[in-house]
Amino acid sequence: MLVIVEKEYADMCRVAAKMVVDRLRKKPNLVLGLATGSTPVGLYQELIRYHREDGLDFSKVVTFNLDEYIGLPPHHEQSYATFMKTQLFDHINISPENIHIPQGMFGEVNITAFETDPAVTAFCHWYEDEIKRAGGIDIQILGIGGNGHIAFNEPGSSLGSRTRVKTLTEKTRRDNARFFASIDEVPRYAITMGIGTIMEAREVLLLANGEGKAEAVRRSIEGPVTAMCPASMLQMHRKSTIILDQGAASKLSAEFITYG
Ligand code: PGA
Repeated sequence: MLVIVEKEYADMCRVAAKMVVDRLRKKPNLVLGLATGSTPVGLYQELIRYHREDGLDFSKVVTFNLDEYIGLPPHHEQSYATFMKTQLFDHINISPENIHIPQGMFGEVNITAFETDPAVTAFCHWYEDEIKRAGGIDIQILGIGGNGHIAFNEPGSSLGSRTRVKTLTEKTRRDNARFFASIDEVPRYAITMGIGTIMEAREVLLLANGEGKAEAVRRSIEGPVTAMCPASMLQMHRKSTIILDQGAASKLSAEFITYG
């Protein structure tokens, strides 16, 4: 695990973008795992800048997003499909057929029966198979929740889990309520890649900024590997990089590589 501490968020985003761009220049058909949330926004802005200013070509890139809320149609302003479109896809030359985002609408499926619903299960298997058919994810971008979650793998998620439905914790719903008119509108369920799925990416790149993430970051890097802090599983990954600002790094006791 390589931990890089940068002074500020903008520096983190530049370093992260450089890593992605280096990979993409070596492999034009890169399979890129993408995340939503506030954290990767600056990274996406940097990628857009590389596209505009240096002509960075995304036409052969294949993307897989980590997760999507259940119950929001793709055009809903808070769906992750909309987020990706407005924050990245509308501004680069990616081919629409190369974009994969978990489906969030399953018609009349009974909300309490998600785990056994055949349409949901079939979708989850299809998503996993699509990742395999694409040759596996080359580099997976991740944020981290204040509770240590990665994607919507909340504390207690199986460390070997695959794409499936998860119930969001109250903390996650409160954290994400800032994007909705009220907490009651925040979906209760999401479809998410599992920790096992994420661990199969050839490389993972986790970004975290701000003191609100400091405790989750400390537990992930210095704590034991535990399902109660899903990001701690990255300690077992063969090629993981964690990029932090000083706030997110403020509770680490060990000395880590500092660039910037
Ligand atoms: P954030 O969310 O980037 O909006 O802080 C990260 C996460 O919950 O994974």
